[in-house]
Amino acid sequence: MAKTAVIFCSEYGSTKKYAEYIAEKLQADLLSTAQAKDLSPYDTVIYGGGIYAGSLNGNEWLKKNQETLCNKKLVIFTCSFSDPQIARNTKYIREGLDKCLSPMLMDHAKIFCFHGALDYQHLKFAHKGMMKVLFQILKHKKERSLEEEAMLQTQVTPANFVDTTQADGLILYIKD
Ligand SMILES: Cc1cc2nc3c(=O)[nH]c(=O)nc-3n(C[C@H](O)[C@H](O)[C@H](O)COP(=O)(O)O)c2cc1C
Repeated sequence: MAKTAVIFCSEYGSTKKYAEYIAEKLQADLLSTAQAKDLSPYDTVIYGGGIYAGSLNGNEWLKKNQETLCNKKLVIFTCSFSDPQIARNTKYIREGLDKCLSPMLMDHAKIFCFHGALDYQHLKFAHKGMMKVLFQILKHKKERSLEEEAMLQTQVTPANFVDTTQADGLILYIKD
């Protein structure tokens, strides 16, 4: 019987929420990248990671396993603060993936992009530092997009756009 693994790399839980939902709907095994060592039982692998400074979190795991993954049905999903319903955001996410993943993986994988969350007050020390730099850049911009304003607002108010039904298209793609 065809077996599916949903593998995730999540810092603050948004990607994990999507991964849990997908695994439940597909009755698939749910594994973190640290747990996903033997991929031989699986015909299909779904990988999810957050977008950090334009790059896919856990991309090293994908690179390490790329030969094996390219012999299976492969889906990669991203989770980002940028709203993937906005075309220029999806373009930016895909450009980031192109930079951190090999052409072999990019050609083979079907990509889906989901909306994440951001809670500045609960970030790890290093991430807070990165966000502080970004906030300074945004504060000095003469004009800011609505999304940039929303990003600045996360300094005081957490933002959570996670909606697992965004993954329904991915689930249908696997079931087809
Ligand atoms: C340090 C840092 C850098 C980030 N960089 C980006 C980014 O470049 N683009 C983006 O859309 N979201 C960015 N985000 C937002 C994350 O993608 C978002 O919080 C996502 O939900 C994280 O998923 P996770 O909790 O599963 O790791 C960043 C967040 C942090 C803390």
